[in-house]
Amino acid sequence: MDAYFLLAFFLFGLTTLGTLSTTMEARAFFVFGDSLVDNGNNNYLATTARADSPPYGIDYPTHQPTGRFSNGLNIPDIISEHLGAEPTLPYLSPELRGGKLLVGANFASAGVGILNDTGIQFVNIIRISEQLLYFEQYQQSLSSLVGRAQTKRLVNQALVLISLGGNDFVNNYFLVPFSVRSIEFALPDYVYYLISEYKKILARLYELGARRVLVTGTGPLGCAPAELAQRSLNGDCDPELLGAADQFNSLLLQTLKELNNHFGSDIFISANAFRTHMDFISDPEAYGFVTSKVACCGQGPYNGLGLCTVASNLCANRNLYAFWDAFHPTEIGNRIIVSQFMIGSAEYMHPMNLSTILAMDAGT
Ligand SMILES: *[C@@H]1O[C@H](CO)[C@@H](O)[C@H](O)[C@H]1NC(C)=O
Ligand SMILES: *[C@@H]1O[C@H](CO)[C@@H](O)[C@H](O)[C@H]1NC(C)=O
Repeated sequence: MDAYFLLAFFLFGLTTLGTLSTTMEARAFFVFGDSLVDNGNNNYLATTARADSPPYGIDYPTHQPTGRFSNGLNIPDIISEHLGAEPTLPYLSPELRGGKLLVGANFASAGVGILNDTGIQFVNIIRISEQLLYFEQYQQSLSSLVGRAQTKRLVNQALVLISLGGNDFVNNYFLVPFSVRSIEFALPDYVYYLISEYKKILARLYELGARRVLVTGTGPLGCAPAELAQRSLNGDCDPELLGAADQFNSLLLQTLKELNNHFGSDIFISANAFRTHMDFISDPEAYGFVTSKVACCGQGPYNGLGLCTVASNLCANRNLYAFWDAFHPTEIGNRIIVSQFMIGSAEYMHPMNLSTILAMDAGT
């Protein structure tokens, strides 16, 4: 009896220590970008781009809306799980202080794009240049807690995720026929302009200390239920938006390679969100989905019109749907995406996947 008790105690002690040390050693995580990765910053802003009322969060551990654009966990949350860390708090959350700063922070804001004029219809959102200013502010707060040297080390060793570009198409160039940007630019020139601005943002992240940056291209925009509802007659993905995403992603990949050459190190990792999304969009059954066209929550064709609210249609089993609302994946969709980030081949993750990165950086 006593021996069993001791053994149980010993094992319990080990597990507790193990958990503590992983929490302490988990690398910090910083998140920038749009609604695919916003953990709730927009809850604190006067904006229409928000996910802080039911049924958002219906499958979150608390079953409450949090500002995440998902039924449950989103992409950064699932990456945090893989890091052995707690989810990143929104930068604007009053809970982000003291020891919580060591976990990292989430600066993302639904509706933003690479360009300042993207998402103006959402009024008050944190544009990317402002997200970078907040990152500087964050580093000042952390410095006053642990000193400059440790802050620099924490930031250099952190994982960074940035998701931008989708809104520059769907909430800017293609938002209305004859949009200002579409009159100003032919599509290839617009893509070129976007990438030249994105390059400055990524270089600034490097200046601010980021050394491992996961950059997701844009997903297959033309296949989102919102676009099917507005632009598709027969349920096929919209070819114009697919083409735009494709041009953007190829030029982005090339630019990340150039930046890595310039900095002489694999700082920027291209995560092919287009491919990972497309895998379950083109063969939903293979992933256990009943559909990849109809959103779980919404109304109108493909549940793709308007917002997801308590008045919307809501599917009973969220695990059977690839899309939660008109634009954003369900938690299970996000899990498929992150699992490719972790183990994907070079076609998905260039020049390497996240499990390779985590193994490599753990050894240094
Ligand atoms: C966006 O606004 C910020 C802050 O005003 C400015 O620094 C930046 O150059 C602007 N970006 C573009 C693409 O105009
Ligand atoms: C990760 O990427 C590497 C290199 O492309 C590949 O060999 C490996 O199978 C991938 N998966 C894992 C789990 O490392």
